[in-house]
Amino acid sequence: MAGKSKILVIGGTGYIGKFIVEASAAAGHPTFMLVRESTLSNPQKSHLIQSFRNSGVNFILGDMYDHESLVKAIRQVDVVISPVGYDQLNDQDRILAATKEAGNVKRFFPSEFGNDVDRVHAVEPAASVFRHKAEFRRLVEAARVPYTYVSSNLFAGIFLRTLAQLDATVTPRDEVVILGDGNTKAVYNKEEDIATYTIKAVDDPRTSNKILYIRPPANTTSMNDLITLWESKIGKKLHRTYVPEEQVLKEIQEASPPLNVKLGIRHSVFVKGDQTNFEVEPSFGVEASELYPDVKYATVDEMLDQYV
Ligand SMILES: NC(=O)c1ccc[n+]([C@@H]2O[C@H](COP(=O)([O-])OP(=O)(O)OC[C@H]3O[C@@H](n4cnc5c(N)ncnc54)[C@H](OP(=O)(O)O)[C@@H]3O)[C@@H](O)[C@H]2O)c1
Repeated sequence: MAGKSKILVIGGTGYIGKFIVEASAAAGHPTFMLVRESTLSNPQKSHLIQSFRNSGVNFILGDMYDHESLVKAIRQVDVVISPVGYDQLNDQDRILAATKEAGNVKRFFPSEFGNDVDRVHAVEPAASVFRHKAEFRRLVEAARVPYTYVSSNLFAGIFLRTLAQLDATVTPRDEVVILGDGNTKAVYNKEEDIATYTIKAVDDPRTSNKILYIRPPANTTSMNDLITLWESKIGKKLHRTYVPEEQVLKEIQEASPPLNVKLGIRHSVFVKGDQTNFEVEPSFGVEASELYPDVKYATVDEMLDQYV
């Protein structure tokens, strides 16, 4: 383990956090997790906690709303990764304050794991969600804490599995609703790969103070092409309903939370094309599959095979 940074994950029991904890331990990083006592004793989390124990993960009892526990945890590591969830996003300044006080962090990964929030064209209320993440970027930069922002684009387990259908849990076999004309490209990545790339970036100087885009060519596709590929796998045509942008905007306005946020994120991704409508410039970003060609990432084609 010589030379591998010690990593603290805050939010390691969450949807994407658990993959990051697993990838960190698997890569041989001394891995620490800030965990609340109530989570450790939560029967629903016991299986996950046990699997972390088996992987040698160290638990540090604490809470992101308990400053002392945060500082104490951060002082034990080199790198802090914060995949905290939606409800905690606006309180990440607490993690930053503790990081500043601890003074030892070589790299900080704020909770991002989606669109590049400095390059979105979203409408409210999704715009506010993105703006808060962007404002937090500015706080991190002002604090001069070395950072990496992971722009992982879409989690495949949520968006590819359902072909981005709201409220679907399995891949549709009869009909699909497509926002916009279906030609805008989006990017779908397997959660394990997002975690692998994130952990690879930890000790890599090329990702310091950069956005790490996870935009592998084989996973960048339009909704029309994606559905055609799915149809070829299941041997059946789906009925496609296209929703023009004006109608999408009207539905966002009329929807209640959290549906309006979910629709707003889909509008940004699938209508505006915010995951692919700009070039990654070396001045601000690097692309993960180019940086780490040794990682054999799961392609959209392979992932769809699993859903058949
Ligand atoms: N690209 C995409 O497709 C996509 C999809 C969804 C989310 N995201 C983004 O991914 C990021 C992570 O979201 P997620 O959905 O994975 O998160 P999540 O499942 O909601 O997980 C939140 C984590 O924070 C922990 N936590 C909550 N309160 C805490 C506290 N007071 N102290 C310490 N830990 C606390 C939770 O612990 P417990 O287990 O104890 O509750 C859990 O581990 C967000 O930035 C989100 O916007 C992206």
